[in-house]
Amino acid sequence: MKYPALFSPIKIGKLKLKNRLAMPPMVRNYADPKGMVTKRYVDHVSSLAKGGTGMLILEASFISPEGRGFKHELGLHTDAVIAGLRKLAKAAHEHKAAIGIQVYHAGRQTNPVITGKQPVAPSPLKDPLEPEAPRELKIDEIKKLVKAYAKGAWRAKKAGLDFVELHAAHGYLITQFLSPFTNERQDEYGGTPEKRFRFMEEVFLAVRAAVGADYPIVVRLSGDEWVKGGLTIKDTVQIAKKLEKLGANALHISSGNYASYVQGKMIPPMAMEDGVLVPLAKEVKKNVKIPVIAVAKIRQPEMAEKIIKSKSADMVAIGRSLLADPEWPNKAKTGQAKLINHCVACNQGCISRLFAQEDVWCTVNPACGREALFAKPLGIKKNVAIVGGGPGGMSAARVAALRGHKVTLFESHKELGGQLAAAAMAPHRQDWDMLRKFLIAEMKRLKVEVELEHQFTIEDIKTGKFDSVIVAMGSTATRPRITGADRANVVVARDLYEGKAQAKGNVVVVGGGCMGAQTAEYLSAQKHPVTMVEMSDQIAAEAPIDEKYLLMERLAAGGVKILDKTLVKNILEGKVIVKGEHGQQDLPAETVVMCIGAVPNDGLAQKIRYFIKQVKVVGDAVKPRRITDAVLEGALAALEL
Ligand SMILES: Cc1cc2nc3c(=O)[nH]c(=O)nc-3n(C[C@H](O)[C@H](O)[C@H](O)COP(=O)(O)O)c2cc1C
Ligand code: SF4
Repeated sequence: MKYPALFSPIKIGKLKLKNRLAMPPMVRNYADPKGMVTKRYVDHVSSLAKGGTGMLILEASFISPEGRGFKHELGLHTDAVIAGLRKLAKAAHEHKAAIGIQVYHAGRQTNPVITGKQPVAPSPLKDPLEPEAPRELKIDEIKKLVKAYAKGAWRAKKAGLDFVELHAAHGYLITQFLSPFTNERQDEYGGTPEKRFRFMEEVFLAVRAAVGADYPIVVRLSGDEWVKGGLTIKDTVQIAKKLEKLGANALHISSGNYASYVQGKMIPPMAMEDGVLVPLAKEVKKNVKIPVIAVAKIRQPEMAEKIIKSKSADMVAIGRSLLADPEWPNKAKTGQAKLINHCVACNQGCISRLFAQEDVWCTVNPACGREALFAKPLGIKKNVAIVGGGPGGMSAARVAALRGHKVTLFESHKELGGQLAAAAMAPHRQDWDMLRKFLIAEMKRLKVEVELEHQFTIEDIKTGKFDSVIVAMGSTATRPRITGADRANVVVARDLYEGKAQAKGNVVVVGGGCMGAQTAEYLSAQKHPVTMVEMSDQIAAEAPIDEKYLLMERLAAGGVKILDKTLVKNILEGKVIVKGEHGQQDLPAETVVMCIGAVPNDGLAQKIRYFIKQVKVVGDAVKPRRITDAVLEGALAALEL
């Protein structure tokens, strides 16, 4: 076997695990409004367990209603949760996976829209991402919360879960007590490291008393909070040692809190390197004897194996990688690592949706959270034509072929990939290429007939070969109706990426959405002086918040000049005339790049409707949107054939 260390067994306390892979806790928003387990959740966990992960850690689950952080997260706040959790335990145990749950209270990192109440915290300090400041907890309330943690953990055990993980990371309630950044108390719960540790200690001991000496308790810590005045790795090592002494059975080392979230070191986005938090786990491991779990953007089995082998950690948690491909462990174990559908760290389908209080998806895996839907048996086998080999078209072709249809994919260009290829060309966006390569490989594996350089027309329909057509022809970039927009030096961004146009000298990028901002970075990296003009006051508004923050930092470092609330009036020889808050100005421009949006290529769909019964239109051909939308729509259309 290629990854012997990763697939060797390990024990957490007395709990035996079949391998060293853990699924870290991830709130899905799949629970019902009362925090109860749903059938959707059971199906999801069943598919994860079947995929071969040794240890599944269920999401942050609130121990009392005011500590809920997301509208549809799991609860541990009432005995009524036990029956549902029992189903999750059964789903995991059927596949020999150990399963536990993260026990948590959000403290100040929530708001009244979710809980209906003012948040509570050790000190009344407002979190930068939340709208309302918390009120300070009174001593008797703290004592009650300690009991609520213990009761929550007891419920987990009662439900047949194998362990609990105490959430003492990411700036939630326990961390708020541990950290001088959020704890300004001067009573027995604050003022010194020992007093700040008191809440953690009381919670730990109460949980231990509730679950018994043999029941494993894991504690998740933020190795570093990445904020001035917050916990650093030095503090975390001290906390880790104290927890080991108290009887913790394993430590799980993540990082950050909401105040530092945008730095991208909690849920690392595409721009952050792989394995970015491993040094923190390694430092903790050097100082304790209990198992340490490393996490965050560990996507390749080689890297996971190396982490274990080099003793940087005892276990590796892969979160988004399992949303992307629950079969990751089985594929790695059986020599099929090449078939893994890798998480591209886009954060579009998962965490961005969660922060918007929506249910979690995965851009590259439309079946995530829709397991039952994707498992439904095929009705009639059809001959399907898919027009357009971009992300939406290939996703439709993949799902249609997986379900047993006979699929032909038509692409007018020389290669498959559509906008994925262009998307991967901007700096720090290279991971989109993983999806492009995966989908192309899937076309081959699933024996999709691919017709390249084939302009699909009504004549193809008239051959009578096809029962259904899915149109995924994408969109065409638009040019504004302003004087000079048709000049030879005015190009659309896609032409630059596809090598159809070249920028020269000073560049003005028109449009400050994601495409505009990324193109500005792309051109400034090529040493062009770049000015980006955007009519609203928002730059890269559609980007996940951490991507946006990191992108804005890089644009500033690259010297890109940003003019927001500014309109382009006129494009002339060598210059662009713009008007903003401070009046009109001329911007030097040998090249002008338009990034102002696109119009759907839906003409074909209109024409062929008269000739064939079943026509479906997906992705940008309906309305230009993100890759995540195109991939999902393609897959859902294929399910409905
Ligand atoms: C959708 C989503 C929800 C998450 N929810 C939790 C959570 O409930 N508790 C927690 O400690 N971390 C949570 N995290 C962080 C993950 O546990 C993990 O540390 C992070 O995703 C980095 O690992 P990865 O790169 O393997 O995904 C969440 C991450 C995502 C993407
Ligand atoms: S949505 Fe993107 S970041 Fe999230 S799991 Fe899927 S591929 Fe990874």
